[in-house]
Amino acid sequence: MPTEAAWWQRGIIYQIYPRSFQDSNGDGIGDLAGITARLDYVVTLGVDAIWISPINPSPMADFGYDVSDYTGIDPIFGGMADFDALLDAAHQRGLKLIMDFVPNHTSEQHPWFLESRSSRDSLKRDWYIWRDGKDGSPPNNWMSEFGGSAWTFDEASGQYYYHAYLPQQPDLNWRNSDVRAAMGNALRFWLDKGVDGFRLDTIHHLFEDEGLRDNPLNPDFHEGLPPREQFERTHQTDQREVRDVLGEFRRICESYDDRVLIGEAYLPLEKLMRYYDGVHLPFNFHLIGAPWNAAHLADLIWRYEQLLPRNGWPNWVLGNHDRSRVASRFGIKAAPLAAMLLLTLRGTPTLYYGDELGLADVNIPPAQVQDPWEIRVPGFGLGRDPVRTPMPWASEPNGGFTAGKPWLPLHDNVSELNVQTLDGKPGSLLDLYRDLIALRRREPALSTGDYGTVEHRDDVLVYERVHAERRLFIALNLGTTLIYTPLPGPGELLFSTVHGWKGKIAGDLLRLQPHEGVIVDISAIA
Ligand code: NOJ
Repeated sequence: MPTEAAWWQRGIIYQIYPRSFQDSNGDGIGDLAGITARLDYVVTLGVDAIWISPINPSPMADFGYDVSDYTGIDPIFGGMADFDALLDAAHQRGLKLIMDFVPNHTSEQHPWFLESRSSRDSLKRDWYIWRDGKDGSPPNNWMSEFGGSAWTFDEASGQYYYHAYLPQQPDLNWRNSDVRAAMGNALRFWLDKGVDGFRLDTIHHLFEDEGLRDNPLNPDFHEGLPPREQFERTHQTDQREVRDVLGEFRRICESYDDRVLIGEAYLPLEKLMRYYDGVHLPFNFHLIGAPWNAAHLADLIWRYEQLLPRNGWPNWVLGNHDRSRVASRFGIKAAPLAAMLLLTLRGTPTLYYGDELGLADVNIPPAQVQDPWEIRVPGFGLGRDPVRTPMPWASEPNGGFTAGKPWLPLHDNVSELNVQTLDGKPGSLLDLYRDLIALRRREPALSTGDYGTVEHRDDVLVYERVHAERRLFIALNLGTTLIYTPLPGPGELLFSTVHGWKGKIAGDLLRLQPHEGVIVDISAIA
């Protein structure tokens, strides 16, 4: 660990899904002015940075992940003046602002694609991936992440174009140097404005095999998995050239002071590590996919640490706008423990809006489904609407999120589960998050310290965090029964997820309630 840790190493990132945070104009959709109005709340959490999902102009086929202008703001979210005001307000409060940048694909409505599509001779034809079909079929067996072939036939020009996601999201051809230059300029536009970094969307998809070889069959495919999983993604993702492009991005960012690049890539740990060449933090989603099991988590933490490259800084993500919320994945009883896990592990934590309240996945009636994923691959439980529902601020209609009709329904028990009600309520998850974050900020052992042991004892996950003379012992009972576990020696209880009690622990045995996690100061032990 460098003596002077960067803000993105010490800090905590809070993800805001802008459609759902706060609506300021009554159209039922959250916006930038809404986020600005809620920044003081964000400050009370004690986090260091906000990452906002895409706000560029977009036809919203994939809710902003289909960009039609990389240097603008979609009117749904406001105008550039609203963005400038948000950035300013964030900085005034000491918060960093991280934007979402979507380099893999544009919207089919982006002027680049319209031009590319206009004819085979278009000067921008090569900006996207166009190929002839094979005997009246797509060029190969590649499938879209959202189901169906990854190729769409364009009648007018008689060729197929490639899209890793929706047909409305054609993939850019990153082998084209003009594409690289144009995207580099877009990054500089925002960096010049003073944004503090980017979360780069789906970076493992940037390149595909140039020879377009068919993907092999997935030997682990079984009934119940979406049809997309029939094939491995061997030739479709994680190609070697990705690193050159990320290197270019990084050089651009590092020509400015103190900016961060975060990359989104759902990959096995071994493969993820290669992305440290290009980005400061390749998102580690392995907590999202993990079973709630002490043995598994101990192994995960340990393996991750072993695989990290020299100077590679770890990070952990507990939830995001694509995956089931933590309160639903692990259960609401485990939510405090999951918070303690996220906030005591070594590495930058990313926290998803609403998880600090214990929001669970919200059941969306079929008629109100918005997510194109769910619409294209119905019935596989992959819909993402349940995790994107509006933030409940108060015990009011629509939780104070909007004066209009919210674009997605809120959860049922808004009158109990909202910021105002949980604020200051003893024992609330919101308070627990704030207290844990405050403790993490006070304790270098937690924010930048090393690990001592990492192990599991039956249902208990145990690790130590160490910084200089400070030694903190963390024990998380993931089980549902009372359990005793050895403590290396007498210590001082700094935090428990189930009771407010703090104080000396004389013996060398810890008593842990079901779902209890504790942080014990054992610095005094020789
Ligand atoms: C990953 C984003 O998180 C997801 O929401 C989006 O649909 C895909 N990338 C495509 O951009």
